[in-house]
Amino acid sequence: MAGDPDLQVVADPGALAAAGAEHVVRACRTAVAGRGEFAIALSGGDTPKPLYERLGEEPFRSRVPWDKVRVFWGDERGVPPTDPRSNFRMAEETLLRRVPVRPERVHRMPAERADLDEAADEYADVLRVHVPAGAGGWPRLDLVLLGLGEDAHVASLFPGAPVLREARRTVVAYYVPAQGMNRMTLTAPVLSRAGEVLFLVSGASKAEALWRVLEGPRRPDVVPAQLIRPVGGGRVLWLADAASTSRLSRRAAARSEEGAG
Ligand code: 6PG
Repeated sequence: MAGDPDLQVVADPGALAAAGAEHVVRACRTAVAGRGEFAIALSGGDTPKPLYERLGEEPFRSRVPWDKVRVFWGDERGVPPTDPRSNFRMAEETLLRRVPVRPERVHRMPAERADLDEAADEYADVLRVHVPAGAGGWPRLDLVLLGLGEDAHVASLFPGAPVLREARRTVVAYYVPAQGMNRMTLTAPVLSRAGEVLFLVSGASKAEALWRVLEGPRRPDVVPAQLIRPVGGGRVLWLADAASTSRLSRRAAARSEEGAG
């Protein structure tokens, strides 16, 4: 990947959660100081769960001006919000029900809708109304949290999917055969234009994917996470635990914090 990635290596999942929570708090306070609001897109999957739990407890909880926070999702599964697979339900259980963010500022992705294209367009409208436009008129989220799939997918941008080449729409929904379900996702141009993107990578099972993204050949059609590169003055930070960085040829000269924050 061109240039040295902004990679911070921490000891283990617990340290990842603490460092990630600290990063969210700082990004939030910077955005609120700058524009009076903080628009964050949450990731689904398992990796962010400990981070969300930490964020909902002290010392992080009281450092966040929750009344200024607006919550979005990077992607969602095509299931009802009550389904155990729902990214909304996961965030609700680990974070949202534990903090005073106002319900009208929580924007769930309606990926369960039968009229998928219309639902995706409606979510694009929600972004347009509630997120300020940045470079090229794209919505500029303050912070996007992303995980990394073992196949190097990011959000619901899966290898070989036509959505990887989407250059106009901000939100797309489509059937993902490998997942056996519909998915709704922010597109790469939106994700790349965030003020900050924070990738969260944990575990030995992600070591190969992380190597492919950061040190393998540039093949974004089969390594979708390579599509996410800073645009419009943004920043992409990789926060990874030691187990997931075991394949990298060089460890970042980063602090190996033991559970920061
Ligand atoms: C989802 C996520 C997805 C996830 C990766 C990693 O809806 O599942 O948005 O992109 O981040 O699949 O998932 P884990 O964190 O569970 O390994």
